[in-house]
Amino acid sequence: MNNRISITDLKAKKKRAERIVMMTCYDYPSARLLEAAGVDILFIGDTLGMVVLGYDTTIPVTMDEMLHHTKAVVRGSSRPHVLADMPFMSYQASPDDALRNAGRLLKEGGAQSVKLEGGTQVAETVRFIVDAGIPVMGHIGLTPQSINQLGGYKVQGKTPAAAVRLINDAEALEQAGAYAVVLECVPAELARTITERLSIPTIGIGAGPHCDGQVQVFHDLLGLFDAFVPKHAKRYADLGSQITEAVRSYASEVREGRFPTDKESFLIDKPVFSEAAQIA
Ligand code: KIV
Repeated sequence: MNNRISITDLKAKKKRAERIVMMTCYDYPSARLLEAAGVDILFIGDTLGMVVLGYDTTIPVTMDEMLHHTKAVVRGSSRPHVLADMPFMSYQASPDDALRNAGRLLKEGGAQSVKLEGGTQVAETVRFIVDAGIPVMGHIGLTPQSINQLGGYKVQGKTPAAAVRLINDAEALEQAGAYAVVLECVPAELARTITERLSIPTIGIGAGPHCDGQVQVFHDLLGLFDAFVPKHAKRYADLGSQITEAVRSYASEVREGRFPTDKESFLIDKPVFSEAAQIA
């Protein structure tokens, strides 16, 4: 039986002014840890490509990779909502394509909803997917799949025209049936205005404190990704250094013959061993 947090629960949180906690999650052990910590939405973001698979951008991520990791997160959790990202070119070519791929993330991956990037230009696609019974989260502001068009990872909505465009994008997504919208790298005051104008939750990342919820990348918060740390991320732990230190200790104990000891070994009764030695 499915006892997961639903989109109705998430929308109700906005009405109660209760903040939504969303975090990226890419595998089984992390899903267990994030559920234990009370995270509301486990999000298999296409940042998977950069922080787990070692690509330079999110562009190369495939549907098969998203499905593989979504299934692991579903196996590792029972209560949080599981949201899967639609990778680049899984929804841009046509609404039919988009629906087919969104369907795979629910049917094969086990996710409860999908997220895709874009505003007004994807509204028709969002409507098509939602009408088929698949909940969609929008994503506007900095949309990393359009990095080649945006010309870099920059804050969006900084001119009057760009700010108005973002407000229009957010409203178009709400009208198309999206149940929430990610605002990435948007000035805090603009994010506040969008949050107040929408009846669906906004989830911020680099969008200030006024959004209805926040999302962060697992590896950024926990010190597991050093290529760069975005300004909007706060390091709550430095697990990368802890892992390196722990493995350094293991390596030196192996090299010095201090691991394993009897405690980590399987012993055999002396008489049994002598008898075996005689037979051999
Ligand atoms: O893929 C991802 O992790 C994202 C977040 C940055 C919102 O889309």
